[in-house]
Amino acid sequence: MSGNKVAIWDAHTRQIYKRLLGYTKRFWVVGVIAVIGMAIDGGGLAAFTKLLPPMIDKLFAEKDPFLIFWMPIWIVLIFLVRGLGTFASSYGVSYVGRNVVQAMQRDVFAAYLRLPATFFGEEHSGHQVSRITYTSEQVASASTDAVKVVVTEGITVLGMLYVMISTSPYLTLVLFIMVPLITLIASVVSRRYRSISRRIQSMMGSVTGTVEESVEAHREIRIYGGQDYAKSRFDDVTNRTRRLNLKVAATNATSSSAIQTVAALALAVMVFLATRPGEIDKISAGVFIAVLTAMGGMMPSLKRLANIQSNIQSGISAAENLFEIMDLPPEVDTGTRVLERAKGDLRFEDVRLVYPRNSFEALRGVDLYCAPGTVTALVGRSGSGKSSLVSLLPRFNAPTSGRILLDGFDYESFTLPSLRRQIAWVGQSVVLFDGSVAENIAYGELAGASEAQIVAAAEAANAMEFIQRMPQGIHSQIGQGGNLLSGGQRQRLAIARAILKNAPILVLDEATSALDTESERLIQQALQRLMRDRTTLVIAHRLSTIEHADQIAVMDQGRIVERGTHAELLARDGHYAALHRMQFHSHSGD
Ligand SMILES: Nc1ncnc2c1ncn2[C@@H]1O[C@H](COP(=O)(O)OP(=O)(O)OP(=O)(O)O)[C@@H](O)[C@H]1O
Ligand SMILES: [Mg+2]
Repeated sequence: MSGNKVAIWDAHTRQIYKRLLGYTKRFWVVGVIAVIGMAIDGGGLAAFTKLLPPMIDKLFAEKDPFLIFWMPIWIVLIFLVRGLGTFASSYGVSYVGRNVVQAMQRDVFAAYLRLPATFFGEEHSGHQVSRITYTSEQVASASTDAVKVVVTEGITVLGMLYVMISTSPYLTLVLFIMVPLITLIASVVSRRYRSISRRIQSMMGSVTGTVEESVEAHREIRIYGGQDYAKSRFDDVTNRTRRLNLKVAATNATSSSAIQTVAALALAVMVFLATRPGEIDKISAGVFIAVLTAMGGMMPSLKRLANIQSNIQSGISAAENLFEIMDLPPEVDTGTRVLERAKGDLRFEDVRLVYPRNSFEALRGVDLYCAPGTVTALVGRSGSGKSSLVSLLPRFNAPTSGRILLDGFDYESFTLPSLRRQIAWVGQSVVLFDGSVAENIAYGELAGASEAQIVAAAEAANAMEFIQRMPQGIHSQIGQGGNLLSGGQRQRLAIARAILKNAPILVLDEATSALDTESERLIQQALQRLMRDRTTLVIAHRLSTIEHADQIAVMDQGRIVERGTHAELLARDGHYAALHRMQFHSHSGD
C-alpha cells in the first residue's frame, strides 16, 4: 500500500498530472466558477445540518418566535444557494471535461496524422480507435472528477466536522472508529479497482478491433461461413469485459455493504456514548440528530476522498497511454531543401530495405536510373519487392542502406511535404473516402481545383463514362470507401486523382489491373500523353501494358536481374522473355 502512495506522487506521475491540468488552463474561468459551486455545494449541506439543533430543540421545544419566522426562510435560502452551487459545479465540470476530451481527441488524432507509416502496422487498429473513443473519455472523467471530489467532498467533510465539533465535541469521538474503518475499506477497494480498470482499458481496444474486423470482412464471413468463428471471438472478448466489469460491480457492492456496516457500528457507538450516565442529560435530541446527520453526510464523502487515489490513478494511466502516442517521434524529416517542381531525375544507388518488424530483407541492392520524362516498368514475381521499391519514393520507408537521388540531390535533403508534392500515386489497393466523386478526385491539397479541371482529369482517366451515368454526375456520393463503385471504377477515380495532381513523378502500382482491356487501352493512351513530361514508374503484371516503356526492370528476390527495352529483353531471352512467353501463350490460349 505504501508502494502505491509513492507511485502516485512520484515525479513522473506529477508530470503527467501537470500536463493534464494544462489542458484545462484555457477554461480556468469556468473552472473557478465550478470550484466555487463545489464549495457552496459542500458547504450548503453542512450549513443545513448546523440548523438542525435549533430547529429541533428551539423551534418545537421552546417555540422561539424569532426562529419560527426565520427558519423556513433560511431553509429555502440555503437550498436555493446550494442549488445554484450544484448547477455551477456540475455544469462547469462537464464543460471543462467535454472540452478536455475534445482537446485530447484532437491531439491523439493529430498524432495519427503525423506518425510514420510504420506505426500503423505495429498496433491493432482497434486500439487506435478506442484511444479516441474510450481512453480519452476516461482521462477527462477521472481528472475532472478528482477535482470535484477533492473540493466538494473535502469541504463537506470539513463542514460536517465543524458541525460535529461545534455541536458536541464529545460525540465527535465516534470519528475515531469511523474514519480509520472507512479509509481501510476504500483503500482495499481502490487497489482492486485499479488493477481491473487497466485491464478494462486494453479490453476496450480488443472489442473495437474485433467489431471493426468483422464489419469490414462481412462478405468473407458470409462466403467462408466464418460466422461461428467471428461470434466466438466476439463472445470471447465481450465475456472478458463483462467479467471485468462484474468484478468492478462486485467490488463496489462489497464496499457499499461494508460501509453500511461501518455506519451501523458508528451509530451504535454514538448511542452508547450519548447514553453514558452524566452525558445523557447534557445531550438534547437536536444535538444528537445534528451529529448523526453530520456523520451520515460525511461518510460517502470520506469514502470518495479515500477512493480518490484510484480515480487519479486510472486517469493517470489512461493519460499516460495517450501522451505516449502524442510524444512518439513524428516522421523523420531532416530535409531542408524545398522543391518547387522537380525535373524528375531519379536514381537509386545500391538501395537496401530491411523491414524492421520481421527483419525481412525486401530489397537487396537495387541500382536504377530513371531519366526525366521516361517510363520505367517494374515487373517480376509477386513478392519480388516492386511495391517495396516504390514505397521508398514518398518515404514511407527509408532505405536501410544505399541512397536515392532526385535531380542530383540526396533524397533525404528535401522536406517531406515538398517531396510528396512531387509524387502522384495510384496504389495497389485503391483508397477512396466517403464523399462525392469530385471530392475524391480533388482530394486534400487538390481541393481548390475547378470543376472543369476535375472533369478533364476524370475524362483522361476514362471515368467520365460512368460518372455521367450517376444521378448527380461528379457530385454523386460514392459511399464509404467507394463501396457504391465497381473495382475498375474505383481504380479510374484513383487515376483521375493522380492525373489532377499533375506531379512530376507518377507511380502506378498495378493501377489498371481491375480494368477490362478496352478501358485499359483508353487509359493507357491518356497516360501516354500524361507520361511525356514526367518520370513514371509502372508496376504491372500484364506485360502488354508496359511494352512501350522506355526501360523495363525485372525484379527477383529484391534485386533487379534484368533491364532493357521490351525488344532488348526479348532478344536476351532471359527472365523477361520467359515471362512474356508464358503470358503470350496463355493469352493466345483463350
Ligand atoms: N510492411 C511490411 N513488413 C514486412 N514485410 C513486408 C512488408 N511489406 C512487404 N513485405 C515483404 O516484402 C516482400 C516484397 O513485398 P512487395 O510488396 O514489395 O512485393 P511486390 O513485388 O510488390 O509483390 P506483388 O506483385 O504481389 O505486389 C514480400 O516478401 C513481403 O512479404
Ligand atoms: Mg506489390
